[in-house]
Order: sequence, then structure tokens, then C-alpha cells
Amino acid sequence: MKPVDELVLEDGAYQHRTMFWNEDIYEAELEHIFSRAWLFLTHESLIPEAGDYNTTRMGEDKVIVIRQQDGSIRAFINSCRHRGNTVCHADAGNTRQFTCSYHGWSYGSNGELIGVPLEQDAYFNQIDKSKFGLQEIAQVASYKGMVFGTFDASAPDLETYLGDMRWYMDSFLDVPGGIELIGPPMKSILNCNWKTPAENFGGDDYHFGWTHAAGVAVMGGPLEMLAGNTGVPNEVGFQVGSSYGHIFGFIEGGAAALQPFPEWREMYDNWLNSRLPGQEEKFGPLQARFYKGHWNANIFPNCSFLYGTNTFKVWQPRGPRAIEVYTWTLVEKEMPAELKQMMHRSNAATFGTAGMLESDDGENFEECTQTNRGFNTRQGYCHAGMGQQNEGPHPDMPGVISDNLMAETGLRNFYRTWARMVNGDDWTQIGAPATAPLKKLRAV
Ligand code: FES
Ligand SMILES: [Fe+2]
Repeated sequence: MKPVDELVLEDGAYQHRTMFWNEDIYEAELEHIFSRAWLFLTHESLIPEAGDYNTTRMGEDKVIVIRQQDGSIRAFINSCRHRGNTVCHADAGNTRQFTCSYHGWSYGSNGELIGVPLEQDAYFNQIDKSKFGLQEIAQVASYKGMVFGTFDASAPDLETYLGDMRWYMDSFLDVPGGIELIGPPMKSILNCNWKTPAENFGGDDYHFGWTHAAGVAVMGGPLEMLAGNTGVPNEVGFQVGSSYGHIFGFIEGGAAALQPFPEWREMYDNWLNSRLPGQEEKFGPLQARFYKGHWNANIFPNCSFLYGTNTFKVWQPRGPRAIEVYTWTLVEKEMPAELKQMMHRSNAATFGTAGMLESDDGENFEECTQTNRGFNTRQGYCHAGMGQQNEGPHPDMPGVISDNLMAETGLRNFYRTWARMVNGDDWTQIGAPATAPLKKLRAV
């Protein structure tokens, strides 16, 4: 394996191709990234009552997230402490206990082992059940309804981890009534490395007018001018790189732009306009502008969303060359039922499993990974240097900002954080400002 400090070069602008193929690097990611970072688990709206649960993954680890009797949320590894079987096979439900399908050990909603068949006749009452509860996830926390967990007890708290990104996300998370996710998530498999869709959703505005040229032209609307990448005025938007590797691209005023029909765009626009004055009052016009714009975003490492299109995803890694995609619909809780249903349908039509824009992307994602099957192909580097001299701090907004929406500011920020985490750096270095030079990387 290539030394880790040669994988990401020039402040994130070059990534060695083995990063998208190699098993050892993938193992290092599971250990240093997925076992330390805060990972998206569920939304509080999906498990409102005591005993409500979702199953999901943190990296490759299967996890149960369950609402407790006292209203708190805890998470446990979904693997029986006897012989290791999956304890809960369902995606979601409500229960007082989980019973293993192999030999029947059962666990309470607090993870304690409460039942062992033949405890007296076969174990002769010699098993200490208090030692065999489900393994608990070290930290679980909610930020405005979004529930995350980390295996790392020493990781900074969730608010610190979300960093600069909170200032931006508050503009749409902190609405009257809050937001909710419509589940259960759609699920599909793609044969690509998990980093490719994460960088794409968070920082690849360049591909939009080209990969999706046909779809954008068919849908029409304000983004039609991007079809074919014939030119991009600066005023369209910009990219943001946050501390801890979170990134997004922002299209000014474009939240409703990717709704597939004009009447749907109008319905959503009307809603946004009715709520905008309240957001401006709460946050001021500078911050509230992010409520009305379209976002393509990634919360490091693998939680992506498109605010406006309102698709919300986790790219669950399945080895270095495959992912399982979970897709929910993000809506405001106080939206009328008709608008929520419209958002859910438009998400399915654009970025659902068979959505027309998801299909465009999927083929490129898979090819970006599978070309590296070639031994010689994967000896080189991929490039993400667009706009590297045209980005920097902004006087009034946090993070590093690009001059133009068409930039690779987000990609570089993502890979800088990736390198710090895989290097095993401590949390102070991982969260360093987005523009800080990388101490272990060398120029080509
Ligand atoms: S593996 Fe679960 S009860 Fe034996
Ligand atoms: Fe795309």
C-alpha cells in the first residue's frame, strides 16, 4: 500500500486512485474515519414514541437506534452477544425487547440481556447476564432533530463536530415546527467507492450541467441555462468548506429549481416565500438567504443532502467498491400534507432509486471506481484543482468560500479532512480551519 501521506497532495487537489480501490485503505477508513466521526443514524421524527426503533449502519457495523422509556435515544451494535447473530432483522418498528432468532437470547430496549432460554437447565444459573448486554454506541446526540452517533468516546460533542456548517444549516433546520424525514428510506446498491458520491453531492457542481444536461433541459425552469455547461455567471452561487470536512454548493434563490414540474416549483416557492420573512427576522437577511437557496451538501463523512430538492442520503460503505444508498425525503413539519407528498414524489422521481438524476450519476460513480481495476490505471492521481486560487475566508460568513459555484473547493476540503483522519491525527488537527495547510502532505 502507498504510504498514507502520499495519498492526498497539494492541499486536497490530488487524490491517489488506490484510495478508491485498495482493501487496506478501506480498513484504515473503517478504523480511523467510521469509528471516530459522528455518523447520521436517524431523525427524531422517525422514532417519536418509547420503543420506536430504526436499524442502520455505522460504517460496516450494524446498529439499532431506539427511543427509551425516558424519551432519550440510545444506540447499540445489532449483534447478539452469544454467537454473533443479527438481533433485529427489521428496518423499523416498536418493541419492548429484541429476541435473537438463533438461540433465543432476548434484550430489553435499554440493551440489557433479560432472557436466556434454559438458563437453569443448561447454564445451571452460572451465566452473569449483566455482562452480556448489547454493546452500546459511545455517544448519541441530536442536533435539531437529526440524530448522530460516534464510536469514539473522546470525539468532540456533536455541535462542535458540525462546526461552521451549523451556521448555515440553522437557516432551514430551525424553522417553526422543525424538519422531519419521510421514511422508511429507499435503498439501493451501487458498485462504487463511498467517497465518490459524497464528494459529488457535497462539492461537484461542475458535473451538474453536463451529466444531467438532458434531465435539466427536460425539467426546464431556472436551472435550464446550466444544461451543457455553456457558461456560469458568478452570481449563480458559490461553494463552502466547513471545519471538520463538511461542504456544500449553494445556488442563490434556487431551492425550488429542481422540482420536476412548473406547478410543483410554484407550490414550493409559495411556501418558501411565506416563511422567508420569519427566517429573516430570526437570523437576519445574510443567514436567511440560505433558507431560500438550493444546496448540494455533504456532512463528513457520508451523509449527503440536497436542500430544495429535499433528498437526504447516507452512502453506507460495503467494501471499497460498493455502497448501499439510503434515501429519505426532507420536509418541514408544518408544510401542508399535499406539499409534503409532492416533495416525496419529486424526490423519488429525481434522486430516488430509479430517479432520472440518480441514474445519470450512478453510472459515472461506478465507472470512476471500476476503471481502477486496471493496475496501471490506479497508479495515478485524480485531480480536483478547479478554482484553487479563487477561494478563501469571507468577512461575514464562516468557512472557506469559492468565487464561483463551479469550483472544487468542496472536494479539496473533503479530502483534506479525509487525509487528517486516515493519518490518525487527533481531533484538534482534524477540526482545524478549512484553509490550514496539511502538516503531513508534500507537494508533488
Ligand atoms: S446467537 Fe443469539 S442467541 Fe445464540
Ligand atoms: Fe449529479
